Amino acid sequence: MALEVAGSTPAGHPNPEVRAQSTGTAYVSAWLARRAALAVRRGPGGTPALDWRAMCDEHWDAVDAYTTGCLQPADPVLDAAIRDSASLPNIAVAPAQGQFLHLLARAVKARRILEIGTLGGYSAIWLGRALPDDGRLISLEISDEHAAVARRNIERAGLDNRVEVRVAPALDTLAQLKADHEAPFDLVFIDADKRNTPAYFAAAVDLAHIGSLIVVDNVVRQGKLIDLESDDPDAMGMRRLIEQMASERRITPAVIQTVGVKGWDGFAFALVIG
Ligand SMILES: C[S@@+](CC[C@H](N)C(=O)[O-])C[C@H]1O[C@@H](n2cnc3c(N)ncnc32)[C@H](O)[C@@H]1O
Repeated sequence: MALEVAGSTPAGHPNPEVRAQSTGTAYVSAWLARRAALAVRRGPGGTPALDWRAMCDEHWDAVDAYTTGCLQPADPVLDAAIRDSASLPNIAVAPAQGQFLHLLARAVKARRILEIGTLGGYSAIWLGRALPDDGRLISLEISDEHAAVARRNIERAGLDNRVEVRVAPALDTLAQLKADHEAPFDLVFIDADKRNTPAYFAAAVDLAHIGSLIVVDNVVRQGKLIDLESDDPDAMGMRRLIEQMASERRITPAVIQTVGVKGWDGFAFALVIG
Protein backbone atom coordinates (compact mmCIF):
# COMPACT_ATOMS: atom_id res chain seq x y z
CA MET A 1 0.00 0.00 0.00
CA ALA A 2 1.33 3.42 -0.89
CA LEU A 3 1.83 5.84 1.97
CA GLU A 4 0.96 9.51 1.89
CA VAL A 5 3.77 11.84 2.93
CA ALA A 6 2.65 14.37 5.53
CA GLY A 7 2.19 17.78 3.85
CA SER A 8 3.84 18.11 0.48
CA THR A 9 7.32 18.02 -0.95
CA PRO A 10 9.19 21.33 -0.89
CA ALA A 11 8.64 21.55 -4.64
CA GLY A 12 4.90 21.38 -4.07
CA HIS A 13 4.86 23.59 -0.98
CA PRO A 14 2.09 26.20 -0.95
CA ASN A 15 4.53 28.95 0.04
CA PRO A 16 6.29 30.10 -3.16
CA GLU A 17 9.33 31.26 -1.15
CA VAL A 18 9.77 27.76 0.24
CA ARG A 19 9.30 26.32 -3.24
CA ALA A 20 11.99 28.61 -4.60
CA GLN A 21 14.39 28.18 -1.72
CA SER A 22 14.00 24.51 -1.12
CA THR A 23 17.21 22.56 -1.35
CA GLY A 24 15.68 19.22 -0.44
CA THR A 25 13.80 18.42 -3.61
CA ALA A 26 16.32 16.02 -5.08
CA TYR A 27 16.55 13.93 -1.92
CA VAL A 28 12.80 13.97 -1.48
CA SER A 29 12.20 12.84 -5.05
CA ALA A 30 14.59 9.97 -4.50
CA TRP A 31 12.78 9.10 -1.32
CA LEU A 32 9.36 9.25 -2.94
CA ALA A 33 10.58 6.98 -5.70
CA ARG A 34 11.86 4.44 -3.23
CA ARG A 35 9.21 4.51 -0.55
CA ALA A 36 6.94 2.18 -2.46
CA ALA A 37 9.57 -0.46 -1.90
CA LEU A 38 9.47 0.03 1.85
CA ALA A 39 7.85 -2.58 4.00
CA VAL A 40 4.52 -1.40 5.34
CA ARG A 41 2.88 -2.80 8.44
CA ARG A 42 -0.51 -2.10 9.94
CA GLY A 43 -0.59 -0.07 13.11
CA PRO A 44 -3.48 0.27 15.56
CA GLY A 45 -6.80 0.54 13.74
CA GLY A 46 -5.28 -0.73 10.53
CA THR A 47 -3.37 2.52 9.94
CA PRO A 48 -0.47 1.85 7.60
CA ALA A 49 2.90 2.75 9.05
CA LEU A 50 6.44 2.55 7.82
CA ASP A 51 8.39 -0.37 9.13
CA TRP A 52 11.17 1.55 10.81
CA ARG A 53 13.43 -1.49 10.67
CA ALA A 54 13.37 -1.19 6.89
CA MET A 55 14.42 2.44 7.03
CA CYS A 56 18.00 3.47 6.53
CA ASP A 57 20.27 6.46 6.35
CA GLU A 58 19.01 7.40 2.92
CA HIS A 59 15.50 7.92 4.23
CA TRP A 60 16.72 9.82 7.26
CA ASP A 61 18.61 12.10 4.87
CA ALA A 62 15.49 12.56 2.76
CA VAL A 63 13.37 13.50 5.76
CA ASP A 64 16.02 16.01 6.91
CA ALA A 65 16.15 17.42 3.39
CA TYR A 66 12.37 17.73 3.27
CA THR A 67 11.97 19.39 6.67
CA THR A 68 14.94 21.73 6.40
CA GLY A 69 13.95 22.48 2.80
CA CYS A 70 10.56 23.61 4.07
CA LEU A 71 11.58 25.21 7.37
CA GLN A 72 14.97 26.80 6.74
CA PRO A 73 14.94 29.70 4.31
CA ALA A 74 18.00 30.10 2.07
CA ASP A 75 20.85 31.33 4.26
CA PRO A 76 23.96 32.50 2.37
CA VAL A 77 25.87 33.09 5.62
CA LEU A 78 25.41 29.53 6.89
CA ASP A 79 26.02 28.16 3.39
CA ALA A 80 29.29 30.10 3.24
CA ALA A 81 30.26 28.87 6.71
CA ILE A 82 29.81 25.28 5.53
CA ARG A 83 31.68 25.97 2.27
CA ASP A 84 34.59 27.68 4.02
CA SER A 85 34.83 24.85 6.56
CA ALA A 86 35.32 22.29 3.80
CA SER A 87 38.98 21.76 4.75
CA LEU A 88 37.96 20.84 8.33
CA PRO A 89 36.51 17.50 9.46
CA ASN A 90 32.85 17.13 8.52
CA ILE A 91 31.65 16.93 12.12
CA ALA A 92 29.55 20.07 12.62
CA VAL A 93 25.96 19.64 13.75
CA ALA A 94 23.40 19.09 10.98
CA PRO A 95 21.33 22.08 9.81
CA ALA A 96 18.26 20.70 11.60
CA GLN A 97 20.28 20.33 14.79
CA GLY A 98 21.69 23.85 14.48
CA GLN A 99 18.16 25.16 14.15
CA PHE A 100 17.13 23.12 17.20
CA LEU A 101 20.01 24.57 19.26
CA HIS A 102 18.96 28.06 18.16
CA LEU A 103 15.42 27.36 19.27
CA LEU A 104 16.57 26.01 22.65
CA ALA A 105 18.73 29.08 23.26
CA ARG A 106 15.77 31.32 22.53
CA ALA A 107 13.43 29.20 24.65
CA VAL A 108 15.66 29.63 27.71
CA LYS A 109 16.19 33.31 26.77
CA ALA A 110 19.92 32.75 26.85
CA ARG A 111 22.04 35.87 27.27
CA ARG A 112 25.23 33.98 28.00
CA ILE A 113 26.20 30.80 26.16
CA LEU A 114 29.24 28.58 26.54
CA GLU A 115 30.16 26.25 23.69
CA ILE A 116 32.85 23.58 24.05
CA GLY A 117 34.04 22.63 20.54
CA THR A 118 33.93 25.37 17.87
CA LEU A 119 35.20 23.73 14.64
CA GLY A 120 34.31 26.21 11.84
CA GLY A 121 31.74 28.10 13.90
CA TYR A 122 28.61 26.57 12.35
CA SER A 123 26.80 25.83 15.62
CA ALA A 124 28.25 29.03 17.11
CA ILE A 125 26.46 31.02 14.40
CA TRP A 126 23.14 29.30 15.09
CA LEU A 127 23.56 29.88 18.83
CA GLY A 128 24.99 33.40 18.47
CA ARG A 129 21.97 34.43 16.41
CA ALA A 130 19.74 33.52 19.36
CA LEU A 131 21.47 36.06 21.60
CA PRO A 132 20.25 39.59 22.25
CA ASP A 133 22.54 42.42 21.05
CA ASP A 134 24.32 42.56 24.41
CA GLY A 135 24.51 38.75 24.72
CA ARG A 136 27.72 36.76 24.78
CA LEU A 137 28.88 33.38 23.53
CA ILE A 138 32.29 32.02 24.47
CA SER A 139 33.32 29.07 22.30
CA LEU A 140 36.29 26.89 23.24
CA GLU A 141 38.54 25.34 20.61
CA ILE A 142 41.91 23.61 20.77
CA SER A 143 42.94 24.09 17.14
CA ASP A 144 44.33 27.39 15.84
CA GLU A 145 43.34 26.36 12.32
CA HIS A 146 39.72 25.63 13.27
CA ALA A 147 39.50 28.84 15.29
CA ALA A 148 40.77 30.92 12.36
CA VAL A 149 38.09 29.49 10.06
CA ALA A 150 35.45 29.98 12.75
CA ARG A 151 36.41 33.60 13.37
CA ARG A 152 36.06 34.41 9.67
CA ASN A 153 32.67 32.72 9.53
CA ILE A 154 31.50 34.42 12.71
CA GLU A 155 32.62 37.81 11.41
CA ARG A 156 30.80 37.26 8.13
CA ALA A 157 27.69 36.44 10.16
CA GLY A 158 28.03 39.82 11.91
CA LEU A 159 28.40 38.12 15.29
CA ASP A 160 32.00 38.97 16.17
CA ASN A 161 30.76 41.57 18.68
CA ARG A 162 29.13 38.86 20.79
CA VAL A 163 30.87 35.58 19.89
CA GLU A 164 34.41 34.97 21.12
CA VAL A 165 36.53 31.94 20.25
CA ARG A 166 39.12 31.02 22.88
CA VAL A 167 41.93 28.75 21.76
CA ALA A 168 43.38 26.29 24.30
CA PRO A 169 42.54 22.82 25.59
CA ALA A 170 38.98 23.27 26.85
CA LEU A 171 39.81 21.87 30.30
CA ASP A 172 42.33 24.70 30.76
CA THR A 173 39.91 27.38 29.58
CA LEU A 174 37.15 26.01 31.78
CA ALA A 175 39.47 26.13 34.80
CA GLN A 176 40.34 29.71 33.87
CA LEU A 177 36.66 30.68 33.54
CA LYS A 178 36.08 29.34 37.06
CA ALA A 179 39.16 31.08 38.45
CA ASP A 180 37.96 34.34 36.84
CA HIS A 181 34.55 33.91 38.54
CA GLU A 182 32.93 34.27 35.14
CA ALA A 183 29.20 35.03 35.40
CA PRO A 184 27.12 31.85 35.00
CA PHE A 185 26.01 30.67 31.58
CA ASP A 186 22.36 30.17 30.65
CA LEU A 187 23.13 27.48 28.08
CA VAL A 188 26.16 25.24 27.62
CA PHE A 189 26.65 23.20 24.44
CA ILE A 190 29.25 20.42 24.80
CA ASP A 191 30.58 19.15 21.46
CA ALA A 192 34.37 18.64 21.63
CA ASP A 193 36.57 15.57 22.22
CA LYS A 194 34.08 13.03 23.46
CA ARG A 195 36.28 11.21 25.97
CA ASN A 196 36.55 14.37 28.06
CA THR A 197 32.80 14.97 28.07
CA PRO A 198 32.32 13.97 31.74
CA ALA A 199 34.88 16.58 32.80
CA TYR A 200 33.24 19.18 30.54
CA PHE A 201 29.87 18.31 31.99
CA ALA A 202 31.10 18.70 35.58
CA ALA A 203 32.58 22.10 34.69
CA ALA A 204 29.37 23.11 32.90
CA VAL A 205 27.27 22.40 36.00
CA ASP A 206 29.68 24.50 38.08
CA LEU A 207 29.50 27.36 35.56
CA ALA A 208 25.68 27.30 35.37
CA HIS A 209 22.83 28.63 37.50
CA ILE A 210 19.46 27.19 38.43
CA GLY A 211 17.47 27.08 35.19
CA SER A 212 20.50 26.75 32.90
CA LEU A 213 20.33 24.14 30.16
CA ILE A 214 23.27 21.90 29.29
CA VAL A 215 23.20 20.10 25.92
CA VAL A 216 25.67 17.34 25.01
CA ASP A 217 26.01 16.12 21.41
CA ASN A 218 26.93 12.66 20.09
CA VAL A 219 25.90 10.68 23.13
CA VAL A 220 24.46 7.60 21.41
CA ARG A 221 27.21 7.03 18.82
CA GLN A 222 25.32 4.56 16.62
CA GLY A 223 24.42 2.56 19.71
CA LYS A 224 28.03 2.16 20.86
CA LEU A 225 26.84 3.84 24.04
CA ILE A 226 25.55 0.50 25.30
CA ASP A 227 28.19 -1.76 23.77
CA LEU A 228 29.91 -2.92 26.93
CA GLU A 229 32.43 -4.90 24.87
CA SER A 230 33.67 -1.75 23.19
CA ASP A 231 36.77 -0.08 24.54
CA ASP A 232 36.20 2.95 22.29
CA PRO A 233 37.21 5.81 24.63
CA ASP A 234 34.59 8.13 23.14
CA ALA A 235 31.76 5.66 23.78
CA MET A 236 33.16 4.96 27.23
CA GLY A 237 33.24 8.72 27.86
CA MET A 238 29.54 8.92 27.03
CA ARG A 239 28.72 5.96 29.29
CA ARG A 240 30.51 7.70 32.13
CA LEU A 241 28.52 10.82 31.30
CA ILE A 242 25.20 8.97 31.62
CA GLU A 243 26.28 7.49 34.99
CA GLN A 244 27.42 10.93 36.10
CA MET A 245 24.09 12.47 35.06
CA ALA A 246 22.24 9.72 36.95
CA SER A 247 24.02 10.57 40.19
CA GLU A 248 24.27 14.38 39.81
CA ARG A 249 21.64 15.79 42.19
CA ARG A 250 21.87 19.33 40.79
CA ILE A 251 20.33 18.44 37.41
CA THR A 252 17.28 16.89 35.80
CA PRO A 253 18.46 14.74 32.86
CA ALA A 254 17.06 13.51 29.56
CA VAL A 255 18.54 11.70 26.56
CA ILE A 256 17.01 11.73 23.09
CA GLN A 257 18.21 9.58 20.20
CA THR A 258 18.37 11.24 16.80
CA VAL A 259 18.61 10.18 13.16
CA GLY A 260 19.21 12.30 10.08
CA VAL A 261 22.01 13.42 7.80
CA LYS A 262 24.46 12.80 10.63
CA GLY A 263 23.30 9.21 11.06
CA TRP A 264 22.11 7.66 14.32
CA ASP A 265 23.17 9.52 17.42
CA GLY A 266 21.64 11.51 20.24
CA PHE A 267 21.67 14.46 22.60
CA ALA A 268 21.78 14.51 26.38
CA PHE A 269 20.09 17.40 28.15
CA ALA A 270 20.43 18.57 31.71
CA LEU A 271 18.33 21.25 33.35
CA VAL A 272 20.21 22.68 36.30
CA ILE A 273 17.95 22.64 39.37
CA GLY A 274 20.28 23.13 42.30
C1 LIG B 1 32.47 18.18 16.74
S1 LIG B 1 33.56 19.49 16.48
C2 LIG B 1 32.59 20.89 16.96
C3 LIG B 1 31.49 21.17 15.99
C4 LIG B 1 30.77 22.47 16.24
N1 LIG B 1 30.18 22.48 17.56
C5 LIG B 1 29.67 22.62 15.22
O1 LIG B 1 28.66 21.89 15.32
O2 LIG B 1 29.80 23.45 14.30
C6 LIG B 1 34.67 19.33 17.81
C7 LIG B 1 35.70 20.42 17.92
O3 LIG B 1 36.30 20.31 19.21
C8 LIG B 1 37.65 20.59 19.09
N2 LIG B 1 38.37 19.96 20.22
C9 LIG B 1 38.82 18.69 20.30
N3 LIG B 1 39.44 18.51 21.46
C10 LIG B 1 39.39 19.68 22.12
C11 LIG B 1 39.87 20.11 23.39
N4 LIG B 1 40.52 19.28 24.20
N5 LIG B 1 39.64 21.38 23.75
C12 LIG B 1 38.96 22.22 22.93
N6 LIG B 1 38.48 21.86 21.73
C13 LIG B 1 38.69 20.61 21.33
C14 LIG B 1 38.06 20.02 17.75
O4 LIG B 1 39.25 20.63 17.30
C15 LIG B 1 36.83 20.34 16.90
O5 LIG B 1 37.00 21.55 16.23
